[in-house]
Amino acid sequence: MKQITVSAPGKLILLGEHAVVYGKPAIIVSVAKRCFVTLTPRNDKTIKIVSENQDQVLDYPEFIISKTLEYFHKKLTLGFDLSINSQIPINGGMGSSSALAVSIAGAVSLFLGQKFDKEKINAIAYLAEQKKHGNPSGGDNSTCCFGGLVWFRKETPDLKIISQLPFNIHEKITNNFLTIFTGTPKESTKEMVNIVEELYKKRPKFIQSIFNRQESLVRELLPALKNGDEDVIIKCIRQSEKNLEHLGVVPPFVKLGIQKIEKIGGAAKICGAGGRTKGGGILLAYHKNRKELETLLEFHKFDFSPITLASEGVRQEL
Ligand code: PMV
Repeated sequence: MKQITVSAPGKLILLGEHAVVYGKPAIIVSVAKRCFVTLTPRNDKTIKIVSENQDQVLDYPEFIISKTLEYFHKKLTLGFDLSINSQIPINGGMGSSSALAVSIAGAVSLFLGQKFDKEKINAIAYLAEQKKHGNPSGGDNSTCCFGGLVWFRKETPDLKIISQLPFNIHEKITNNFLTIFTGTPKESTKEMVNIVEELYKKRPKFIQSIFNRQESLVRELLPALKNGDEDVIIKCIRQSEKNLEHLGVVPPFVKLGIQKIEKIGGAAKICGAGGRTKGGGILLAYHKNRKELETLLEFHKFDFSPITLASEGVRQEL
């Protein structure tokens, strides 16, 4: 049997984080940073997992393999070597664990002689993610699996709408985005969600009005991405960032950095849970002239990298 390589993209929350916890919609997008998994069949029963990413904990890959076997009601007669090489930063809010779950589920499915069925791969990845994260929405693994733009909304605790959008980001703007790493947040996602909850309890009307504004921005951003309407994209990112600041999830030094980007005509926002005291995680930045933004970021020694959004979902590499 031949070697099998499968890859899956990471993801970013384009807009709607935190409000999504309260039933508002969010847009999640796949990114052109991928997790590659290569499976090489062995002649004995051993399963050997090697990761080129030093901070990768290997019990999660083991768990994903066992979930895939369980899903297809299969037992292994022969083992394999599994090597992991991911371009997605770990714990950076870019879906590193979801992309890993999706790519391992894909590679092991093929090894078991199954069809490359994205629905099934996604179902396995979700089972694995539930074990890792407790009660994840399923939006992350779905985005890493199907790729492109995903509309996500939790209607009730038992009903979630996770829908791959039937269009892509307009190609003229897809290369104008950058990500900026502002440092790993000291607070976990759970802590940040709790901070917002406390605020909601104290000032329900004000916080609800912010969530309502976030929903309007999500709905406005969607057609702007499709049509490549840069002015609307910049407006939506700027306004959503201000709303996130009101929620207290943007650390002070990150706010200052964002102001510098806005001064030269760009826009930036945190993506994900954010932070309070130290890092704010990944920022998504947009400028009509990416070079101009890069010059500013280089001058201030920001840790940035260009990012192509809405890349292809899980695939078998040939
Ligand atoms: O930083 P991430 O990728 O874990 O995103 C968190 C997004 C929140 O809306 C803050 C929480 C959630 O469960 O949706």
